[in-house]
Amino acid sequence: MVTAKEPKQQVKIGPTRLLINNEWVESVSGRRFETINPATGEIICEVAEADAPDVDKAVQVARAAFTSGEWSKISATKRGELLYKLADLIAQNIDELAQLETLDNGKPLQDSLSDLELVIATYRYYAGWADKVQGKTIPINGPYFCYTRHEPVGVVGQIIPWNFPLLMQAWKLAPALATGNTVVMKTAEQTPLSALRVGELIVEAGFPPGVVNILSGYGPTAGAAIARHMDIDKVAFTGSTEVGHLIMEAAAKSNLKRVTLELGGKSPNIVFADADFDQAIAGAHDAIFFNQGQCCCAGSRLFVEEKCYDEFVAKTVEKARNRIVGNPFDPDTEQGPQVDQEQFNRVMSYIESGMREGAQMLCGGNRVGEQGYFIAPTVFADVRDEMKIAQEEIFGPVMSIIKFKDIEEVIQRANATMYGLAAAVWTQDITKAQAIANNVRAGTIWVNCYDVFDAAAPFGGFKQSGIGRELGEYGLQQYTEIKTVTIKL
Ligand code: NAI
Ligand code: MG
Repeated sequence: MVTAKEPKQQVKIGPTRLLINNEWVESVSGRRFETINPATGEIICEVAEADAPDVDKAVQVARAAFTSGEWSKISATKRGELLYKLADLIAQNIDELAQLETLDNGKPLQDSLSDLELVIATYRYYAGWADKVQGKTIPINGPYFCYTRHEPVGVVGQIIPWNFPLLMQAWKLAPALATGNTVVMKTAEQTPLSALRVGELIVEAGFPPGVVNILSGYGPTAGAAIARHMDIDKVAFTGSTEVGHLIMEAAAKSNLKRVTLELGGKSPNIVFADADFDQAIAGAHDAIFFNQGQCCCAGSRLFVEEKCYDEFVAKTVEKARNRIVGNPFDPDTEQGPQVDQEQFNRVMSYIESGMREGAQMLCGGNRVGEQGYFIAPTVFADVRDEMKIAQEEIFGPVMSIIKFKDIEEVIQRANATMYGLAAAVWTQDITKAQAIANNVRAGTIWVNCYDVFDAAAPFGGFKQSGIGRELGEYGLQQYTEIKTVTIKL
């Protein structure tokens, strides 16, 4: 592992207040909190801290925009045009947004730029859908004319995480706005900045006041206020499975708001001996180490067939050792810091647990550098299914390699988890690929590839990895209510 050079970087910060009703305001309490550059541990700036009263304010204006304001009267085509305009503005400011994302989150600048490609594609994709959301006419019995309307759910609360701040903002905002909802979004406390800059572009694009409100703040305060709010019609959440349970409970205890959840994973990545070896090694490496391992769909249980196990492990360790960790602004950098001290500590404690439980640590395991939250790419081999590092989401650059003998066994073991977000298989044999695709219970299966995302392809979890799907046509269903109209003829 090599530490990259450290060029100085000037990044434009953008807004640091709350966006409510197209105005930039301080929080009701006047409190602010610090956001940190994870590459150095230094404070970037302070940001207004929303709590329940700010959520109330935002919900009021979002409700007004939904019921009596301009938004509900705007044509679907015009909604699409506004989303296209927003996509264009993001594209015009792509470098600035990428730098801000990298500064606040720590991900390599190249990765911020590729996130932004999908951000732009997502807004454009749903812009196209805005005037194509339509119901059906239904031939019911009797002298009636019956049809359905797909109406917006109403005021939507959206709570997003820090691992892909701009991307998660896009996945949530674009389908909600295309279908005519209004939004109160809470960003993650670790990464408030890029979403606020997009808020500025939303105002510039011409979205009416109250349609999109963006609050920075913490989960148990502002986040919980959204989940239990009596005048929010739906909550969409991405984050930990633990908090997913809390969101659903709060919805159940308040107004039965609709709930969609994108939660954690422990995705099996299965390599058969007949796979294209170089492709599988590169794929398995990216599957776990991409985004500092901070991916809900990370290939965090790497099952390797016994016949090729030793050679695979040796080559994989060599590749992990050569991964370039360092300043995320350096174009050569492949891996930046973990997002904050808490995540750093969490990952390090999983590494200790792996060693304690007798997995074989073949590289990494240590901090990199004196400042920031960098962790060396870490590979554990001979991991057993019952070990904590094979069961729990680590969310860091820690690969767990597990040996398997045959396909029936690996399917059964792949499914022996409470999660079901994604899975992948590497093989030249279409029959094996198909067997994995059909029998592993997960929302996404990649065959001879990993982390292939497209605005048109739905993503989401089986089991405790979530409820509902984002992206694609399926993603629209989560933002509409079906209304049945029956007219006597
Ligand atoms: P988290 O689930 O606490 O945070 C995600 C979002 O939920 C943030 O906006 C946070 O402010 C909010 N939140 C937290 N508590 C809340 C509450 N009681 N009510 C409403 N909103 C609340 O995740 P955290 O603590 O940042 O990370 C812990 C672990 O969660 C990670 O190590 C990782 O395993 C997992 N995680 C998974 C993500 C995914 O993409 N599926 C994203 C982030 C974390
Ligand atoms: Mg948390």
